[in-house]
Amino acid sequence: MAAADNLPSLRAVHLLKTFGDGASQRTALRKVSLNLFPGQLALLMGPSGSGKSTLLAILSGLLHPDGGQVLTRPNDQTSFVDIWGISEAARDDFRRKHTGFIFQGYNLFPALSASQQLEIVLKWGNNLSPGEARRQAEEMLDRLGLLNQRHKKPAAMSGGEKQRVAIGRALVKNPTFLFADEPTSALDWENGQAVIQLLRDAAHSRGATIFVVSHDARMLPFVDVCFHLDDGNLEEHEIPLVVAGE
Ligand SMILES: Nc1ncnc2c1ncn2[C@@H]1O[C@H](COP(=O)(O)OP(=O)(O)OP(=O)(O)O)[C@@H](O)[C@H]1O
Ligand SMILES: [Mg+2]
Repeated sequence: MAAADNLPSLRAVHLLKTFGDGASQRTALRKVSLNLFPGQLALLMGPSGSGKSTLLAILSGLLHPDGGQVLTRPNDQTSFVDIWGISEAARDDFRRKHTGFIFQGYNLFPALSASQQLEIVLKWGNNLSPGEARRQAEEMLDRLGLLNQRHKKPAAMSGGEKQRVAIGRALVKNPTFLFADEPTSALDWENGQAVIQLLRDAAHSRGATIFVVSHDARMLPFVDVCFHLDDGNLEEHEIPLVVAGE
């Protein structure tokens, strides 16, 4: 179960972020602190514009905070890496090796089929042979209900299919940290539930730390911890104790 290890895998300390200046200035995060643990599936909720995508981008090393720290501990190492205190090259390296990101807008490569989107991660990121990369890509697409769509390119996919390919691409990499911004927004509840179950398995059986942004309160029974952002202020929320499917 979650948090077998009682040291966090990821700590945010007093994160600040403001966009723009003068009259158009917008404070997205106000001293946000949180701890996430190995094997934990965490949910981030909050109204539109409350700072959820901003927080995910800072935690994952994509967007520089104006203040505060992001401390990460990949692969159960004993010491923390301050990802905004290292060089850009070291941060890129850290992201490539240890993090996965499912973006709000999918970010698929237009020229590649569903299967190829996953195969390139497995070949170039995880150093697998082409045959093994194809086998693992197809296995993941099958779990996402997409095996029959494996030859389709993004232009021919529905929004929900693109979203599931983006999820598969992040999951096959088997990252220590996985950040997902509204991963089920284009899915019906049946497919959404399958995706949450996959994220939950990745956290609980592989020890990944997974942070998911969603508006969908139906996810609550599946997660280990829930945070709520409101106008840049973060709070931890109680979640129901009964967990489905375990
Ligand atoms: N690049 C940017 N330039 C200026 N303002 C920005 C930028 N990115 C975000 N903001 C502002 O910061 C605030 C937080 O935005 P953010 O995208 O993090 O919200 P969100 O909670 O993810 O919203 P949604 O649920 O609509 O995706 C908003 O007021 C937004 O307008
Ligand atoms: Mg957002």
